[in-house]
Amino acid sequence: MVSWRGLGLLGLLLSVNFFSFSSAAHEQIHLVQLSPTRAGKDDPAYSHRGYLEAALGGNDSVDGCLIYCYYNVFDGFAAKLTPEQVSKLSQMQGVLSVVPNTFVKTQTTHSWRFLGVESPKNPETGALWERANYGQDVIIGVIDSGIWPESASFSDHGMGPVPARWKGECVDGDVFSKESCNRKLIGAKFFLDGNLGVSDSTWEFDYKSARDVDGHGTHVASTAAGNFAPADWNGLGNGTAKGGAPHARIAAYKVCWAGAMCSTADVAAGVEEALKDGVDLITISLDNGLDKPMFEDLLAISSYHAMRQGIFVSFSAGNTGPSAGRVVHGEPWSMAVAAGTTDRFLGSDVRIGLQGRAKPSIAMRGSIITQFPTITAPFAKFTNTSKFCLNNTLDPSEVQGKIVFCLRGDLSEDLQDKAEMVMDAGGVGMIAGNADKSMDYQLRFDLVYNFPALLVKAADASRIQAFLSSCDEGLCNSRDPVATIYSPKSYLGLKPSPMVADFSARGPNILTPSILKPDIMGPGVDILGAFYNQPYAFLSGTSMATPHIAGVAALIKALHPRWSPAAIKSAIMTSAKTVDNTKKPIQDWDGTTASAFATGSGMVNPPAALEPGLVYDASARDYNLFLCALGYSDQNVEVITGEKGFCSAEKYFPSLSNLNYPSLSVANLTMKATTITRRVTNVGRAKSLYTVSVQAPEGVKVSIYPSILRYSRAYETKTFTVKLERTKPADFSQETYAFGSYTWSDGYHKVRSPIVVGTQPS
Ligand SMILES: *[C@@H]1O[C@H](CO)[C@@H](O)[C@H](O)[C@H]1NC(C)=O
Ligand SMILES: *[C@@H]1O[C@H](CO)[C@@H](O)[C@H](O)[C@H]1NC(C)=O
Ligand SMILES: *[C@@H]1O[C@H](CO)[C@@H](O)[C@H](O)[C@H]1NC(C)=O
Ligand SMILES: *[C@@H]1O[C@H](CO)[C@@H](O)[C@H](O)[C@H]1NC(C)=O
Ligand SMILES: *[C@@H]1O[C@H](CO)[C@@H](O)[C@H](O)[C@H]1NC(C)=O
Repeated sequence: MVSWRGLGLLGLLLSVNFFSFSSAAHEQIHLVQLSPTRAGKDDPAYSHRGYLEAALGGNDSVDGCLIYCYYNVFDGFAAKLTPEQVSKLSQMQGVLSVVPNTFVKTQTTHSWRFLGVESPKNPETGALWERANYGQDVIIGVIDSGIWPESASFSDHGMGPVPARWKGECVDGDVFSKESCNRKLIGAKFFLDGNLGVSDSTWEFDYKSARDVDGHGTHVASTAAGNFAPADWNGLGNGTAKGGAPHARIAAYKVCWAGAMCSTADVAAGVEEALKDGVDLITISLDNGLDKPMFEDLLAISSYHAMRQGIFVSFSAGNTGPSAGRVVHGEPWSMAVAAGTTDRFLGSDVRIGLQGRAKPSIAMRGSIITQFPTITAPFAKFTNTSKFCLNNTLDPSEVQGKIVFCLRGDLSEDLQDKAEMVMDAGGVGMIAGNADKSMDYQLRFDLVYNFPALLVKAADASRIQAFLSSCDEGLCNSRDPVATIYSPKSYLGLKPSPMVADFSARGPNILTPSILKPDIMGPGVDILGAFYNQPYAFLSGTSMATPHIAGVAALIKALHPRWSPAAIKSAIMTSAKTVDNTKKPIQDWDGTTASAFATGSGMVNPPAALEPGLVYDASARDYNLFLCALGYSDQNVEVITGEKGFCSAEKYFPSLSNLNYPSLSVANLTMKATTITRRVTNVGRAKSLYTVSVQAPEGVKVSIYPSILRYSRAYETKTFTVKLERTKPADFSQETYAFGSYTWSDGYHKVRSPIVVGTQPS
């Protein structure tokens, strides 16, 4: 079987091949969007094929060129086109846009092979699961790298018949048949045509079927909706694995090939099919990049059409943290999910001392990579050239049979390379140490061998270095240093938790700053989930946080089948937790208080999300008006929504901040006061009374009117205004942000919205 390392390298090679291939052959896959209101739509000449034939100037190779037809995610098709054909098509009446097929990536961190902690157990969810019937009637579409159907997480034990409305199926393919599916895994399809022409060698590494050889899709599916299954990872993380909605149904749409190669043509085809099959919600842990406005972003467009059909979509916010302004999926109709830690840590104790001495000179705990038995071995002394364990610097005669200390000079140094150097030189273990404490936030790495190796913080690394140099200087009294690395254990109750993961992508939302992103945080560090070719694995990434949100959304959908995607989103966001398990505000990876640019509305709080009290609802029309307010042209808006001339036909559209969003962001609050309107719908007790409380951002006065909302029936809607005014002059020569919140409460529900107020230089 292919190793992880093999897949990683393959991913790299494939992307290189793809680009050289496409430029050489002059033909590249493009996605063509047609106006759904084009003249003569029912005439074959204006069908998808009709456009293509016209562009190709006859019937030549039309069969080979039409790769996908899309009807649900947008009206259009994917085809292989030369630059001449692209320009011809772009000028044709009824063609809205022609964009090249691009590649998006799965969103585990730099690599997806981590380990650590299981998501926190929530004792309250048991009763709620019963009420929501474990999500039994909800179907979750997972757009990812496929699925490993044999995993115990996808057993249909305890589950009733497949909902009659389901139109999907399991498609036969390599080592995958209809029998691979059951009442849990009710759909499995694969989409690879957007990847064809990349390289035939792909098929040495992957199956032409929905079977997952990556692990990512399997892990994501089990996190959203894995059935109860005993899970263990070599004795660590022992317990019962389960997804957020353990009896929800899974439909897997494989669009990522040979280790994270996922083309937008395939992703759109997967969403197209999921909508046709009748999924209730969709989870997509893929990065669409930051460089595109919504009308060029096929994931944003696809999720818009899902929203219009009542389908909630959760996306991963990206793994490009902790630097600011890198969050992706900024569109208001989908959920962008950040990643936080949980209260569990997998680590290993280390002792370093002199042979024969009972007391160790140094004791510490490092973060581990792989399971290994306790070992004791001589500790290698390093020299100046070898201390980074770089290529060909280790002398086997010094390293043979020893545990070797390797410094990690900067974050770009691959710890796996270092460990391989140690292994190749005959070492029996490695302790890697950060050279500087600024690197300590990233204490995970991704060794795949069963080789004792761990990483320690900079402070411990300098103690080790001091100890080793004292030995170099002969102060070890001729007794050689030895090290013991103890078998790894899991440590529970880690405080504080959650914290925001270093890699989780941060706001502000560069393309659409009036929408706060990320929206929410979920557990995304060292998550135990189902895997390919082995029962379970620990992975980290916003990819792992995203299906937690899909699982919670499935429970909400089970309890409230008619809620809109916006209502589900609001329920999850306004009920989120903003304090950690020490009752203090959630911290960022570096110990500072995390801002809403890191956590969004906060850490998901499933029991509260099922009973939010009030929701901020929004319709497709609200989002359309928002797009007009963004300054998008009629054509831009039509590309996203399929509606012609929308903005021109509207006399008035509310300002950007007036979109009825569950959080509030004013990117540039000038010295003039701004008044924003919101609507809240009562989804709690019919008769209820809510009062508002405010935590104003620094230097800003927040006035909410009215400050009491009196409801007399269910689903009644009330409007209020939020007036924001600066209380002192602000410095508009630089970009700054201040954070606050307002919360509606009836004494039981707390309906909280973060407020972000910024200054922007002109
Ligand atoms: C194109 O195909 C149509 C039907 O498939 C056929 O009637 C027509 O003659 C073909 N045109 C050319 C130029 O081959
Ligand atoms: C895991 O849990 C099971 C059941 O609780 C127990 O029998 C088993 O010994 C545990 N394994 C380890 C390694 O702790
Ligand atoms: C190692 O480097 C340090 C300073 O970087 C220097 O003082 C020392 O002499 C060097 N040792 C050897 C063996 O080269
Ligand atoms: C290490 O050395 C090998 C063989 O000389 C070379 O192929 C490889 O690229 C080197 N790796 C690095 C990281 O320098
Ligand atoms: C933000 O507001 C200030 C004060 O009115 C103004 O000077 C500045 O140009 C505005 N920035 C942008 C990007 O509009």
